[in-house]
Order: sequence, then structure tokens, then C-alpha cells
Amino acid sequence: MSLSVSLDDAQKADYARALGVEPEREVLLFDVVQRMLAFPLPEPWRQCLDDQWRVYFYNERTKIPSWSHPLLRAHHAIIKAYRWVDSFPESQRSDAAEKQLQALAVQAEAELQNWREVGAPNGRSYYFHIETRQTTWDNPYDIVRAELDLEAATGMDGDEDHVEREEVLVVVAVVVIDRAALVWQCVDLAFLTPAPESAATRRHLAAGLASGLAGLVGLDSAQAYELPDLPYAYDALEPSIDKATMEFHHDKHHLTYVTNINKALEGKTQPPLVELQKTAIKDGAAFRNSGGGAYNHNFFWLEMAPTGKGGAPSDKLAKAIDESFGSLDDFKAQFEAAGAPGARFGSGWVWLVVTDDKKLAITSTPNQDNPLMDGVDGTAGIPILGCDVWEHAYYLKYQYRRPDYIKAWWDVVNWNQVSAWYEDALGGTAPSADSATATAALAGQRKAPASFNLKLGFEASAKYGS
Ligand SMILES: [Fe+2]
Repeated sequence: MSLSVSLDDAQKADYARALGVEPEREVLLFDVVQRMLAFPLPEPWRQCLDDQWRVYFYNERTKIPSWSHPLLRAHHAIIKAYRWVDSFPESQRSDAAEKQLQALAVQAEAELQNWREVGAPNGRSYYFHIETRQTTWDNPYDIVRAELDLEAATGMDGDEDHVEREEVLVVVAVVVIDRAALVWQCVDLAFLTPAPESAATRRHLAAGLASGLAGLVGLDSAQAYELPDLPYAYDALEPSIDKATMEFHHDKHHLTYVTNINKALEGKTQPPLVELQKTAIKDGAAFRNSGGGAYNHNFFWLEMAPTGKGGAPSDKLAKAIDESFGSLDDFKAQFEAAGAPGARFGSGWVWLVVTDDKKLAITSTPNQDNPLMDGVDGTAGIPILGCDVWEHAYYLKYQYRRPDYIKAWWDVVNWNQVSAWYEDALGGTAPSADSATATAALAGQRKAPASFNLKLGFEASAKYGS
């Protein structure tokens, strides 16, 4: 059981920044962000606090917690839509809005024909795009009340192994139509509209929302990967990782990987980064090195938290670590040994993975390889923790002392994120590690309002739904 909670002003501002909105300078957009955050979460999601007053989200049906806001994609899309509308001269906005709305209806209808729900052997369905061959565990239309609509429209519950294709299409159509209706409802209710509003403003906003909706149904799948903002300040990991290293590492090294994988996929459909990993070695150097580097670094930023804010392994993960390695300290020692220069010579990563038999294992991989890649030189599995042991990750501060860097790195590991990824990995899902910086921002610092103190014990016991 979980308690619903609200965000304070600082958290809302952090979330806005992670969406690319500057609260002080972009007052209108910040107002939009606040209204989006005030909108009810889709069922069966609940917004909760952990025992360190960090916000997380809990799926009451699957019993899986997540740092990701369930409407994160919608939030990104809506902000993007607002900026898109703003890019037009004022005199052209009405026409652009009309055309966009007409195109949306046609495109959305065509797009929903491309997704198929597939029953998996483990009983958990996944979704398959017949043109791009993209697969995902997440319902592509799972944005607004999708799961409830799925059940209501078909009379089935979420445990069914198999769904007839025709049923799925009907359900998807219901969901898309429902979502479109909700968007219009939002406009009608001035959900995102600062008062007073003119007809032109309403049309302006409607066009933005329509564009956002187009993004939600996958119409902008050719969009390039982006370098995600760090979910914390450059100096937030001091003293374990210094500010200058973070600046170079994120702004230069990571950017290069993102730029190069974009070049390799220029003009082509770009699926979620995680889906590039499996075949990256076979697909060639651009996918292996740049696609791997882009994914690994997205993963790296998210699995860290400001010093002292990363919490501890969940009870379930702690138990698994004890069973596999003896104790948390023993695990750390074995992990550090795997990352020492004598064990991982040259550049690479050290990982904690969940293997196919749901066991934990420590492994390391060279260069920008990772355990998701078929044919990797290391133990294959789903990574839930990874330490970058390239020299660029530590040399400015630690020079040749890589072991000192790894030992200090434990102070900035975001165990809350790692624990959530562990739950996902047990269900067969690898961290998507993209478009999630806004989520990670929610796990940032916050002060504890007095009223929360009464809830802490209750929340702590409900933390991961176990
Ligand atoms: Fe790196």
C-alpha cells in the first residue's frame, strides 16, 4: 500500500529544469509544467515517498516501482509542442494549427495500425511495431488511462497471456480516441491555458497539444537522440567525482557518442537506445562504440545521486547480494577487484548484472560494450549497476589511482534507482536509460515537510510493494 503525496515548489522547479524549462525565465512554460504535475496520474499509478522523502511512482497492478513519471513522455511532448508553436510567426499560427490537427487525425489512425501486442512465453505481453521492428514492454499508448481502458474495453485483466489482434486494435483505437478526447477536454477546461485566454491562444495551444499527441503515438520516430541533461549539478557528486571531470565527461565525451550514433542513423528510424544494444556488435563499430557509449553514459548518470542521497539497496536486492556475494561489503570488494587495472586492462566498465536465471553476477566489458550485447566478452545479462573505468571518468582527480576512484564512487551510487532496475530486470526488462532525466530529478534533494514525518514508517515498509 502506498500513500499519495505532493511535490513541493523546489521539486516542481527541478522537474521543470529537467524538462528543459527554466522556471524563473520561462514563466508560462513553468506554469504548464505545474499544471501537468497537478493532473491526476493514470491508473494504476500512485505517487509515493520513500524513507528519504524522495518521490517515486508505484504501479499498483504490476507491483513495480519506478523513478519515471508515468506521463513523462507526454510531458516532454507537450513542452516540445509549445516550443514548436512558438517557432511560427504569430500570423501563421492559426493555419499551422489547423493543418496540424487535420494531419494528426490521419497519422494517428495510420500509426495505430502498426503496433501489435504479442504474448510472451513468460506470460507478459510485449508490443511490436511491424515497420520499424521496434519492440517494447510498455504499451505504446499507455499514457492516459490506457490500462484501465484496455481492461474495460475487452473485459480481460492484465494477466491474460494472449490477446487477439483485432481486439488489440480496437483497444488501441479506444485508447487513442480517449486520449485525443482528453487532450481536447484539457483545452476546454483550460487545463494548460493561462487565463484569460483568447480564441487565438486556445488555437495556439491546441496546435501544440496536437503536435505533442503526434509525438506520443510515434510520429516523430526519426528524431535524433539527444544528450540528456544531468539530473543533478556538475558538482553534486563531489568529493567522489569532481566538477571538472563531470563537465568534460558529460559535455564532451558523452556528447561525442550521441553525435556519432546520430550520424550512423541519420535519416533512419531511431528506436530507443536500449534496443540498439543487443545487435550492436554485429551491426558494427558505430553501433557498438557510439551506440554503446550513448546508452552506457545515460545509464551511468541515472545510477548516481548527489553525495549521500542515494539511499541503500532495497531489502530484496540486499538479500540477493548477500546470497550471491556474502555481504554488501564483500560485493563491493569483488566489484572493485573486477574493475582494477589488472582485471580490466585499459578502458571499459564493471557491471552488476541479473542473468537469465535471475541470479546476480559481477562482470566487466571492454571499451563501450555492455552485457546486453550479443557476443559480449563478459557475462551476459541485464545491467543494474555499472562503473565507468575509462580514464576520462577519473584521471583529473585520481590520475593513475583507479581503485581509489571506484572506492569513492560507492558514495554516489543511487541505490534507489539500482533497486528499481533490479525489480525490472527480474521481470526481464532492461533499463531504458533514455528520456529519464526528468525522472531522476525527482529523486533529488528535498526538505522533509513536518507532515511527512508521520508517514515515514508506513512509506518505508511499502517502498517496493513487497
Ligand atoms: Fe565515460
